Order: sequence, then structure tokens, then C-alpha cells
Amino acid sequence: MPASESLGLPPDFVWGVSTASYQIEGAVTEGGRGPTSWDAFAHTPGRTVNGDTGDVACDHYHRYAEDIALMKELGVDAYRFSFAWSRIQPTGRGPVNAEGLTFYDRLVDALLAAGIEPSPTLFHWDTPLALEDEGGWVNPDISKRFADYANVLGEHFADRIPRWITVNEPVVLTTLGYGVGMHAPGKRLGFGSLAVAHNLLLAHGRGVAALRAAGAGQIGIANNHAPVWAASDHDEDQQAAALYNALANDLFADPLLLGRYPALLEPYLPDGAGDALAEIAAPIDWYGINHYNPTMVAAPSTDPTALPGSVDGQQLDSGLPFRMVEIEGYPRTDFGWPVVPSAFTDLLTGFRDRYGDALPPIYITENGCSDATGPDATGRVPDTRRVGYTRAYLEALAEAVAAGVDVRGYFHWSLLDNFEWAAGYSQRFGLVHTDFETQQRTPKDSYYWYQELIRSQS
Ligand code: FCB
Repeated sequence: MPASESLGLPPDFVWGVSTASYQIEGAVTEGGRGPTSWDAFAHTPGRTVNGDTGDVACDHYHRYAEDIALMKELGVDAYRFSFAWSRIQPTGRGPVNAEGLTFYDRLVDALLAAGIEPSPTLFHWDTPLALEDEGGWVNPDISKRFADYANVLGEHFADRIPRWITVNEPVVLTTLGYGVGMHAPGKRLGFGSLAVAHNLLLAHGRGVAALRAAGAGQIGIANNHAPVWAASDHDEDQQAAALYNALANDLFADPLLLGRYPALLEPYLPDGAGDALAEIAAPIDWYGINHYNPTMVAAPSTDPTALPGSVDGQQLDSGLPFRMVEIEGYPRTDFGWPVVPSAFTDLLTGFRDRYGDALPPIYITENGCSDATGPDATGRVPDTRRVGYTRAYLEALAEAVAAGVDVRGYFHWSLLDNFEWAAGYSQRFGLVHTDFETQQRTPKDSYYWYQELIRSQS
């Protein structure tokens, strides 16, 4: 598809880009910001590739005006960023840090002046350390803290922000952060981490209520979803895949959209979790899906020397009732993630089929490709694999829309190369190249391709 070919998407389709606070802001000790779980984790030896941290990241805290100029030139309608909770409330509770609000005031006002809709996430994994020290997302108290924080933001920004996202990918914080310890806070609770899922969902529900009470409109969530493929037709693999699917997909969508927890997981949820379902299922205006690639799952190996499987190239703990298996036969991104655009169409049509009328309009809140291509001798960044990935995934999205799925917008991950969590700066997802030594930004070929695409679709 040349960038100028129509995808047949609705005329008011929203084109955007996404980022998150800890991945781009830097300035971790400036403006009264309190430390977070990710500061502590990244500074613990051995936790991130090369010991990388978000201390400086893209220095966006100081360079936001330049980044907004890049977005304006790109022609996006909307920008998804996240508030750093610990800039607003340095310890996650109590008095508001005025300097934190001022930073986001400037950002929001500059976006509005550039004609770009601010579409913030309230929480993208950077838990204030003071709350983490009290148990973080295992502590049931945190959903109340989150509601207070949401209230502060709603009261302050409701009149300027058209679209809100409560939390980002609770599944990843639950499983990688508290289940297997690959992300902050590095806990290994196994299925005990389902308390985290519950508290995140309850925080979302209470956050929705707080934002609504403050007059905020158009509230949604950004959930990571992916089709789960069983490694074979054998019963054991099918059962392992069903359990993993319940954990990775249904656990985070069923309570929100159907007001119930998946029966397979009820035994692992905290006592009384069901009593909170009415709060969790508070109506939302739209549903955000982050999608990158499908997942393949098998039963745990009976071979005691076999490895239990990997996520993002890192080995998981053994002892889990499933095992991740590499998907063969497809190209891979630099992260090793398989490129399977048809799985995106299947995911979207599958969502429509499963949730029917309970599903509000969908926005794709993240999708993108790790491609390490840097500037060539002429300074150009020919990231053809990112262009190919994005084109194919947008065609897959358009196919779902043609099949009747109501998708209203697409936010590419990411505006610029940034701190990719445990992978540090080793994985580049940006439409704009970041030189982390000089902080120079260089738009890549994919940036110009996306610019042309946006122009031609509107
Ligand atoms: C998602 C995260 C986002 C980014 C992309 C590559 O899981 O939400 O912050 O790291 O993956």
C-alpha cells in the first residue's frame, strides 16, 4: 500500500502517537518529582540491559516544545502521553506538587496551541516509591490513592483534555512486574499477583468515577491484548493456552465489559474480589487496545532440563502451568516479536464477537515495531521494516473495520526512540530517532511515511 492509498477508515478517524512518562521525560529529580518503582528497579544492578535507567531518557521534560513541533509537522490529531503520578503527588498521596501540575499545564497548552488533542494516561507503571514500599499494587489501599490522584487531575484538566486513559496494560504490570519479576517492582508472586490485577482494575473503576465527578469526558483504558495460539491440538497444550488466554486477555476485559471474572481464574483472586465488580465495570466511553504480536503457549515441559519459555527474550520462572513457545515461520522485529498482521484482524473481530453490544468504540492505543536502523552516512534513517510493519498492521486494522468493527483511532508506539523498560535503550520503537548522547532527534523514513498516510486519509 503506498501511503496515499485510502484505507477506507471513517473520515474522522483519529491519528496519533504514544509515549509514557518514565520512558521519555528524564529530569527524575527535578520539579519536585518523587522517586518511583522504576527509578529503584532500573538502579538495581542486573535489572535492565546495560544497567540503563530513565534518569535522562529523551530529556522530554526540557525538550517537550521540540517534540510537540515534531508532532505538529507529522500531522497527528492526538498525542497519548502519561502523567507521572509522582510529579503530581510525590509520595502518591496528600498535597499536590504545584510544579508538577505546571509542567503538564505547559505541555497540554502547547499541544492545544498546536491543534493536537492531549490524550493522557494517568498511570503507565511508574508507581510512586512511597506507595510501592507499602506493598504497591498488592495493597488494596492503592485504588483509593489512585482515585484521589485521578480527582486532582480531573479537577485541574477536565476542561482542556478531551480523551482520558486510566491505566496502561495492567496485564504487564501484573505478570512481568509482580508475577515473574522482569519489570519493576521485580516481585515473583506467581499467581499471587492476581491481587495486583484486581487492584489495578478497581483503581481503573474508581478512577473513572473520580474523573466523571470532575467533569472529564471520553474515558477509556489501554489494555494489551493478543490472540493466544496453542502449540498443538493436544489437550495439555489446549488447556495451557486456555488458561493463558484467560490470564492475558479475559481477566482484563471481562470484568470491565461483562462485569465478571473468568471462572478459570476465580480461585486465584483475592477473597471478596467479586464484590467490587460493579465498581470495576463503571461504563467507559471507549476501549483502548495495545497490540504487537500473537502469543503461542504450550503445556509445561515434562523434560526437567527444558527451559520454561520466554517473554521478550528473557526466561520465565519454571513452575507455571504454561510455557511460552516461539512462533516460527514469520518475520520478526528486532525484539524478536513475530510479525503477524492477520492476528490483529482476528483480535479485533474476535473482540467484537465476544463482547457484542457491551463493547464501546475501540481505539488502538499502541502498535509499533522495534527496528534498530539508525542514520546512514547522509543522515537519513531508512527504517523500512518499521514502514512495512505499520503498513501491514494498518491494512489488517482496515480489514477489521471493513468487517464491521468500530475502530475510531490509531496511536502509533512511539513518537521517538525511548527507554524500553527492562530492555533499556537497546530497542528502538520511534518514528523519530533519538541520539541518546546528544539528544538530537531525526525523523526516520517511517515518520515521513506516516505523515503522508495521515495527509492522504483525511
Ligand atoms: C508496551 C508498553 C509500552 C512500550 C511498548 C513497546 O507493552 O505499554 O510502554 O514499552 O510495549
